[in-house]
Amino acid sequence: MNSRAAGPPLAAMLRAAILLLAWRLATSVEMPKVKLNDGREMPALALGTYLGFNEQGIIHSENHQLRSVISQAIDVGYRHFDTAAIYGTEGEVGEGVAAKIKEGVRRSDIFVTTKLWNTHHKREQVAVALQQSLKASGLDYVDLYLMHWPMGFNDDYSVSKVDYMETWRGMEDAHKLGLVKSIGVSNFNQEQLGRLLNESRVHPSVLQIEVHPQLPQTSLVSYAQSRGLVVMGYSPFGAMVSRFGAPPPKKESVLKELAEKYGKSEAQIVLRWLVDRNIVPIPKTVNPKRLEENINIFDFKLEKDEIQRVNTLDTNTRFTLPSFWQNHPYYPFDKVDNPIPSPFV
Ligand SMILES: NC(=O)c1ccc[n+]([C@@H]2O[C@H](COP(=O)([O-])OP(=O)(O)OC[C@H]3O[C@@H](n4cnc5c(N)ncnc54)[C@H](OP(=O)(O)O)[C@@H]3O)[C@@H](O)[C@H]2O)c1
Ligand SMILES: *[C@@H]1O[C@H](CO)[C@@H](O)[C@H](O)[C@H]1NC(C)=O
Repeated sequence: MNSRAAGPPLAAMLRAAILLLAWRLATSVEMPKVKLNDGREMPALALGTYLGFNEQGIIHSENHQLRSVISQAIDVGYRHFDTAAIYGTEGEVGEGVAAKIKEGVRRSDIFVTTKLWNTHHKREQVAVALQQSLKASGLDYVDLYLMHWPMGFNDDYSVSKVDYMETWRGMEDAHKLGLVKSIGVSNFNQEQLGRLLNESRVHPSVLQIEVHPQLPQTSLVSYAQSRGLVVMGYSPFGAMVSRFGAPPPKKESVLKELAEKYGKSEAQIVLRWLVDRNIVPIPKTVNPKRLEENINIFDFKLEKDEIQRVNTLDTNTRFTLPSFWQNHPYYPFDKVDNPIPSPFV
């Protein structure tokens, strides 16, 4: 084999590598960031990784499908992943991230959020639970650790009276140990958040709550933002997608009209409505096409009155409503007349 024979394949390989890089840059979205009250930055949109549940319990991905979704997501520009101990997806999130780190992505460019489950609310259980999450994901720290709910339970799911302020002391301990960079809460109501702000030593940086056109949460969002928290919005598609037990998907003419005006899909309009309210949306998808669709929202912006018009779709509908826990002293939502039976016992 002479040097002339080795030349063309090398040049071709180089050309292919450059083309691949150019294509990656052209197709991947530059992810904006929001500033947290502890000085750190968080990517402005997160990929949800909760796969839902059925009669058998929490749904797990088959053949490590989620792991490759995570890697693909990083390729198209996602930098933030939302998981939780209870989702059973921390492992695959970690594997997907690790695969890209092997290819040169830096850990510091990725933001991982995970959550403390309700059966680990005693102060001394918190750092231990976080260490289990780290072990499951293979990470040596997470960027954000959230208390999933203000309600604590014993292992048998009987009500534990442990105060969420005691749990918060455990969150502060984990923060001090360096296992997590930022701490926050999820599913707290305004009263609970107010007390937490009054009594915390390390202030919460984030409030994660359900937000979508049927539940815009304008008052809780402005309260949290006025107190310096970043709000993350879960279940962003609301009634647009079919959900277990909910009526069929809802078509809203406002969304259709805005989609036509901006040349975007209704899903993209809803995500942009959240971003324009300074809320970090957490859309979940495992579909490659929708993965790209949901991140392709940083090249347009809604007008103030258009944000208002989407707000008027409010029907006060919650899709995450664990009414089976409504007798807990720290239940955060309004009680209903016919609570559903608990899937946890
Ligand atoms: N803190 C909490 O208590 C809490 C509670 C609930 C959820 N969360 C977090 O928030 C994330 C998202 O919430 P979610 O899963 O309830 O709801 P979601 O993201 O609003 O909806 C997910 C559904 O929408 C579909 N979908 C995704 N993109 C779409 C698009 N562009 N057009 C049409 N359909 C689309 C998905 O199907 P495909 O996958 O087939 O695309 C899936 O069925 C969760 O994964 C979790 O990380 C947190
Ligand atoms: C927080 O503290 C202020 C000032 O002491 C008090 O007025 C307010 O009621 C407290 N809020 C909650 C929710 O405990």
